Amino acid sequence: MKLTPEQRAQFERDGYLFFPGHFSPEETKVLTDAVPDLYSKRAAFNVREKGSDAVRTNFAAHLISEPFARLARHPRMVEPVMDLFDEAVYMHQFKINGKMAFEGDVWQWHQDYGTWLNDDLMPTERAMNVAIFLDEVTEHNGPLMFIPGSHRKGVVDARHDLTTTSYPLWTVDNDLIRQLVDRAGGKQGGIVSPKGPAGSMILFHSCLVHASGSNLSPFNRVAVYLSLCAVSNHIRRHKRPEFIAHRDFTPIEMLPDDCLRQPYPVDVPWKDGLPESALRTSLDVIEPVEA
Ligand code: SIN
Ligand code: MN
Repeated sequence: MKLTPEQRAQFERDGYLFFPGHFSPEETKVLTDAVPDLYSKRAAFNVREKGSDAVRTNFAAHLISEPFARLARHPRMVEPVMDLFDEAVYMHQFKINGKMAFEGDVWQWHQDYGTWLNDDLMPTERAMNVAIFLDEVTEHNGPLMFIPGSHRKGVVDARHDLTTTSYPLWTVDNDLIRQLVDRAGGKQGGIVSPKGPAGSMILFHSCLVHASGSNLSPFNRVAVYLSLCAVSNHIRRHKRPEFIAHRDFTPIEMLPDDCLRQPYPVDVPWKDGLPESALRTSLDVIEPVEA
């Protein structure tokens, strides 16, 4: 799937593109059905909400579960990203965020590239976030909030928040958020929340400032977040463990468009548990970044 010139221009301007109902209910169900088993595991790849058993985020399902391994190679998701970067991409990060009914906690205002730069030494912002809804997203169950056009500011100031939630994040302070929202239109469009059925997809720029509120509704808001990085822009440090920030920079090879409906064979090397190597970390710089 290639993007039209209008979609490219919209992405440049707003920093995101929304594709409601991009995957059919039948395709989405293949993924949704695989989540309970992943979430039930007592393993490092399941980060739970602070003081609760609800899964906040699950990492690396594409190396553990066949349906998610096939999603990671889906042309309807990978091709538009390769098209925008004009380069092959690899999987930098793969998460299934729970935002479970009554328990899903906030994600503070942040840019993903802030974390990838500060922690992983990713050289530039040539990496894309893809969100795929596994539940319907409404105004009630903690939808994502974007500040349109905020990606055009590049990397903004952030501080490492290790206390607010159970997951550390480089977050943006309230004064800057106020300025960015004002600049984007204030009460008229300064914050947007794409909402739609399960199977909807969002592509969003790695510098787009975003957040989400807590989920006080009785409806789960499970969503997959795939972060695809241009191969030449691979990370230069392994400060975070491999199950969070991947170290295999091999270009993604796409499967056919029916890969969520047909069981094409895929490799799931961590299906029996994380290898010890996936937990190791290091502060060594593996390759200097060229000026
Ligand atoms: C994220 O920004 O990584 C997650 C946001 C969310 O799931 O609402
Ligand atoms: Mn994020």
